[in-house]
Amino acid sequence: MKLRYFSHSSFQITTDSGIIILIDPFLDTNPTAPVGSGDLSADFIVLTHAHGDHIGDSFKIAARVDPLFICVNELANYCIDKGFRAHNMHIGGGFDFPFGRLKFTIAHHGSVTPDGVYGGEPAGVVLSIDGLNVYHTGDTGLFYDMKLIGEMTPIDYMLLPIGDNFTMGITDALKAVELARPRVAIPMHYDTFGVIKADPQAFKEKVEALGKKSIVLAYGEEITL
Ligand code: NI
Ligand code: MN
Repeated sequence: MKLRYFSHSSFQITTDSGIIILIDPFLDTNPTAPVGSGDLSADFIVLTHAHGDHIGDSFKIAARVDPLFICVNELANYCIDKGFRAHNMHIGGGFDFPFGRLKFTIAHHGSVTPDGVYGGEPAGVVLSIDGLNVYHTGDTGLFYDMKLIGEMTPIDYMLLPIGDNFTMGITDALKAVELARPRVAIPMHYDTFGVIKADPQAFKEKVEALGKKSIVLAYGEEITL
């Protein structure tokens, strides 16, 4: 599988069989995004929660390429109300999709759409694709059950916020890595806005000091996992 980073919490996964999954595509009003929504396609769009910097340009992309949204029930219904296709799930549940398995986890945060609709509980996702497990935590504070998530599914790549203010900062993110024990930690949700400035290289060095691996992805960079 390939993983591409668009800054903030926005990622694109392309499976070995060519299926494209977008997670939280926030591009056109994201000052750090290297591409626009018009540049992307998607077979699936996974939304971790309803905030504007996570729904992002999902509906613009969906109007063009008709992906299947995957979200918790309330947010999936919101997508359906907007005229799109969605697969309703909820926290703790997993499902086998054509790309692999997706399971929603808890996240400690909020979830209301930009137009004021309650989006259900915010979530993280564990994706099991092409023999690897990727845990995108969504927006969240630190919680001890990250240990349980890592015990139930050995995590290869953990994508986690370091920007502080709305989510974990670097100190808490380091504890999250200690708890979930991923093979590789990838920082996200930093530098997009003034209040979430953080140094991803400092995070990487601290992860390495714990004897673990970290990769800082450049905006637009794609790596093969
Ligand atoms: Ni949020
Ligand atoms: Mn956010």
